[in-house]
Amino acid sequence: METNTARKINAGIEEEAEVSIKISNLNVFFGVNHILKDLSLDFQKNKVNCIIGPSGSGKSTLLRSINRINDGTEKLKVTGAVHFNEKDILNGVTNLTQLRKDIGMVFQSPCVFPKSILENVIFGIQQHKKLTVSEKQDITEETLKAVSLWPEVMDRLKDSGQSLSIGQQQRLCIARTLATAPKVLLMDEPTSSLDPVTTRVIENLMERLKKRYTIVLVTHNIAQAKRISDQVFFMCNGQLIESGTNDMFFNTPKKEQTKSYLKDETCVCR
Ligand SMILES: Nc1ncnc2c1ncn2[C@@H]1O[C@H](COP(=O)(O)OP(=O)(O)OP(=O)(O)O)[C@@H](O)[C@H]1O
Ligand SMILES: [Mg+2]
Repeated sequence: METNTARKINAGIEEEAEVSIKISNLNVFFGVNHILKDLSLDFQKNKVNCIIGPSGSGKSTLLRSINRINDGTEKLKVTGAVHFNEKDILNGVTNLTQLRKDIGMVFQSPCVFPKSILENVIFGIQQHKKLTVSEKQDITEETLKAVSLWPEVMDRLKDSGQSLSIGQQQRLCIARTLATAPKVLLMDEPTSSLDPVTTRVIENLMERLKKRYTIVLVTHNIAQAKRISDQVFFMCNGQLIESGTNDMFFNTPKKEQTKSYLKDETCVCR
């Protein structure tokens, strides 16, 4: 594996950025369909790494490859390497439960179980260790505070999680993921079903969470990527077209495909 740092050139100043996940020559096939085409890229620690691109370009497939959710899918073939914590998680990791604890995933629609708010928060961590009543309380309070949901629900932790608004449910799902103490948060269009105010709440949350986690965010929303990304990765037709810092990508894109996508979300890659 190459060095664990990447050069970041920003406004003429070079600084070191630590690589959290290193993807090398990743190819994904579903049967004869070649979905991800030789992707090589680094996601950086304590940054919002934002993946944008048209529908069907392979953004979700990329995220799902990182914590191996697609394992078991019929006719799936994956080649290449994804390094995390000094290991190739495609080839060297067999404990998928631990992998998904370290690399948590938040989906487009909040997946709240028909259980109380507290039970929803501790659902994942309970698969890993037995908790006392006070530990359950403490983890619930800490993670709900981390997602700024605590003041809204502190008096109703025994109520059903499904009684919450969609924006609150999405924050509850993020809290459940944080409770397992992950190092990486994969977020697949987490705000696409939210109104603008709640979207900003989640964006502010990502800004805060990146201080402790690596965030990999898929979004359709170019304005959102511009607001909160540190690094941007533009994918089209299963390929990485261009990547760079927020400033470089949005202000001085190099590829014609990128310019066209940023202008009117059309893509000429196909
Ligand atoms: N389990 C699967 N079996 C077969 N094909 C699949 C499977 N999952 C995804 N694909 C195909 O892979 C391609 C990329 O899909 P993917 O969901 O990764 O795109 P996306 O960029 O996330 O799109 P969107 O923005 O619409 O969510 C699509 O052509 C899709 O039909
Ligand atoms: Mg998708």
